[in-house]
Amino acid sequence: MPKKTLSDLGPLAGKRVLVRVDFNVPLDKKTGAVKNDRRIRGALPTVQALLDAGAAVIAMSHLGRPEKATPEERANLTTDKVAARFGELLGRPVKKAANDVVGPAVSAAAAALKPGEVLLLENLRFDPREQQNDAEFAAAVAGLADAYVNDAFGTCHNDKDASMVAVPAAMKAAGKPRAVGLLVEKELTIVDGLMTAPKTPVLAVMGGAKVSDKIAFINALLSKVDSLLIGGKMAYTFLKLKGFDVGATRVAEEELAAATPLLGHVGGKITLPVDCLAAKSSDLGVTQVVEVGGAIPADYEGVDIGPKTLALFAGKINQAATVIWNGPVGWFEQPAFSAGTKGVAAAMADSGAVTVVGGGETAEAVEQFGYDSKMTHVSTGGGAFLAYVEGRKFQSLAQIDDRG
Ligand code: 3PG
Ligand code: MG
Repeated sequence: MPKKTLSDLGPLAGKRVLVRVDFNVPLDKKTGAVKNDRRIRGALPTVQALLDAGAAVIAMSHLGRPEKATPEERANLTTDKVAARFGELLGRPVKKAANDVVGPAVSAAAAALKPGEVLLLENLRFDPREQQNDAEFAAAVAGLADAYVNDAFGTCHNDKDASMVAVPAAMKAAGKPRAVGLLVEKELTIVDGLMTAPKTPVLAVMGGAKVSDKIAFINALLSKVDSLLIGGKMAYTFLKLKGFDVGATRVAEEELAAATPLLGHVGGKITLPVDCLAAKSSDLGVTQVVEVGGAIPADYEGVDIGPKTLALFAGKINQAATVIWNGPVGWFEQPAFSAGTKGVAAAMADSGAVTVVGGGETAEAVEQFGYDSKMTHVSTGGGAFLAYVEGRKFQSLAQIDDRG
């Protein structure tokens, strides 16, 4: 059943709209500055559309994991800097509700909003009730506005966050409408299209550290794709199982156990690297290319795919009509180990295929190398992208009103 979107909310002039955004953006560890504003930019069309319709917007997000932070780290997790960047990008001031997430000062700030004005709440996770899906907290948040919009695709898989589940439930109890925003609508439409009627042949590229984290995702992909290329740290798990000596590359026992059931696909749908770049553990500046079939020296570890693998992967990407990518194929944060990840991004950008990049660090890599605008879609969801591809049903979306 299709969900309500912005156009189903009815006349919004003079209304207050609560918009759950995912402004959980990477921050500079020392200064707390916003390092990447892609998720903020992603929510702008929805916020702008609501303001254009004459509404006032109350935006809310979590930022980082304050419950696990030291007091100094926690101080950097206030949404002040996010509010400033949001205002710059929106081209109008964003008011900031101080200190508490809810309470009399916040209610007063919300009540004072005029059409066209924007308020950003304090980091939702500063109130522990946010992650307890707490009904009383949710009722207080819901009381701030007349309608609810979920535009936080990156957080849609969190089933216990009050702002995602209990708040829309409280809105419903108060007879207020709930819709998805333009970003969530776009993200869902793209992944739905990928999983139901992709242009074939479909190829996926996977990387990242752990097979065990992505096993459900890999299985979901294997049922859809014609070909799956595996690079990154997880490739060494498979290569080790195939008898390749991975030297000092650390591969945990549970990773080997997770990858074992997939071995039957290697050489079929799954393609592994044929060579790799290895660096000396005691001096990462010393590197050598090692062919699979040879052995990584005992004091070296794998840090990137090698040149033959990149050529192999690029050739396959070039033949595909749809390419889905999740997980860097090497340690791309180190410029000397970034050739594989950069090369995969370049091959996708040049392929003419429909190209979809899962969020998180893959999206950061694509942006860092300047290929983001050349992709069909770069998701704002990391875990949410994986979970949605896996076919998981989200409680957050179940809360949104069905259309008509
Ligand atoms: C994310 O980046 O995964 C989302 O913003 C959710 O954040 P979380 O992983 O801390 O729940
Ligand atoms: Mg997450």
